[in-house]
Amino acid sequence: MEFSIAPLKALSALRSDCLVVFLQQSAEGCGLVDAEAVDSLVAEAREDGDFTGALGNVHLSNRPRGLAARRLLLVGLGAAPSDARAWRKAADAAFGALKGRAAQHVHLAFGEAQQAFIDATVRAFGDFSYVYTATRKPDSEAACRVESVQLLVPSRQAAAARTRLQRAEALLAGMRLCRDVANLPGNHCTPAHLGKVAQDLGKRHKLKVEVLGRAEIERERMGALLAVAQGSQQPPRFIVLRYDGAPKKQAPHVLVGKGVTFDSGGISLKPGAEMDEMKFDMCGAASVLGAFEAVARLRPAINLVGLIPATENLPSGSAVKPGDVVTSRSGQTIEILNTDAEGRLILCDALNYAQRFKPASVVDIATLTGACVIALGHVNSGLFSPDDALADALLEAGRQAQDPCWRMPLGEEYAEGLRSRFADVANIAGRAAGSVTAACFLQRFTQEYRWAHLDIAGTAWKSGAQKGATGRPVPLLVHYLLAQEAGSSAHA
Ligand code: BES
Ligand code: MN
Ligand code: ZN
Repeated sequence: MEFSIAPLKALSALRSDCLVVFLQQSAEGCGLVDAEAVDSLVAEAREDGDFTGALGNVHLSNRPRGLAARRLLLVGLGAAPSDARAWRKAADAAFGALKGRAAQHVHLAFGEAQQAFIDATVRAFGDFSYVYTATRKPDSEAACRVESVQLLVPSRQAAAARTRLQRAEALLAGMRLCRDVANLPGNHCTPAHLGKVAQDLGKRHKLKVEVLGRAEIERERMGALLAVAQGSQQPPRFIVLRYDGAPKKQAPHVLVGKGVTFDSGGISLKPGAEMDEMKFDMCGAASVLGAFEAVARLRPAINLVGLIPATENLPSGSAVKPGDVVTSRSGQTIEILNTDAEGRLILCDALNYAQRFKPASVVDIATLTGACVIALGHVNSGLFSPDDALADALLEAGRQAQDPCWRMPLGEEYAEGLRSRFADVANIAGRAAGSVTAACFLQRFTQEYRWAHLDIAGTAWKSGAQKGATGRPVPLLVHYLLAQEAGSSAHA
């Protein structure tokens, strides 16, 4: 599958399996050069009531009169001035209309520069063409027949468009990796497998990758991670990835991803319904790997560290029990009142480990709480940070990337619920504000640096007929990291 950019010249002479043209609802014609043939076909389709120009409305015709293209696809942009969301909807509709058709070489014609059309198009194509193949054959009707997509833009915008396309493609590769890893079943995607994926990523892009096994994790005194891992036959891993794109003296940014490859709840066993979805409890880890894939392709001038604590959470005779007290890497003791609140346990040791890098910022990404799904649904990821500037940077990255997050509170009053009579801290508070108290727990281990936490429990995967990983929040993370490049003009 290939994307390319070409200057828009003679529309009528263009050889294409399908020429895609976007139109505003009220516009008479498409406003492109050499578009008389297209415009008269648009007028006819409107007159016949087959095309309105409403957002996402499509009209496909074969062998369009006056055009060299085999097919013409009209796509409505709606009445409002088109923003990134509208472009995404229109692009979704365009690829949707091509589903099951034989068109292989597709051309999309764009008028004057549209901020987000390239991102939206590439992202839409990513969703349209993504097929999970690791443990099953794809449905033949799901197979994507499109082999190349050429974006036709006004000549003087071609250079800028190419830069943008490069970023969008790197992002797509990152999202694909994230989805592929996250979708793998728990018996395939073990902690050891996550280590292999990281090592393979390192080989492909010349990154430094270190994978610690149980003995080394013991040497690091990561007692909280080990407590979660002790119920499982699968040994844990602690993965460290490094991308060095800037001078050594420049402080790195650190991403920490929750890598629970299956979360049964442990002795505090979860109910059976939809428990299979807890294979997605390593989506934070997958998003860190995806972000590295994109960053390694784009090579920005930053230093980046990725940390992934990886384990299963299972009940067994050796599993950690409610009431057990363990000592975390930080030295703080933790009373494990609920073994299903395991994400914060493995993260607190990784967050403590992050100190050694004297980081410029640390962002952890975790499918941490069901409560976050209740609070924010599947639209926004939950963002928690005591640092306003860091929070604003992540909010803005989410907006730019069409991968939004919403800021949630922290604070002493919430943290009080974590008091324990038998340890420095308990791993759960009451039922109220569950995503906030989880974040408060993590905050106790992040005093040495600028820190933010993303709860992606509602955004990392979809349930139901569309079950599968979304690739979020790879776009948010990559936009954030690119904006950290020195002298970056925020990469609009
Ligand atoms: N991985 C889950 C969070 C989760 C649950 C994400 C459902 C998406 C859907 C996490 O480890 C967990 O079990 N959290 C508990 C915390 C509780 C015991 C305080 C939860 O949310 O119920
Ligand atoms: Mn859990
Ligand atoms: Zn979990």
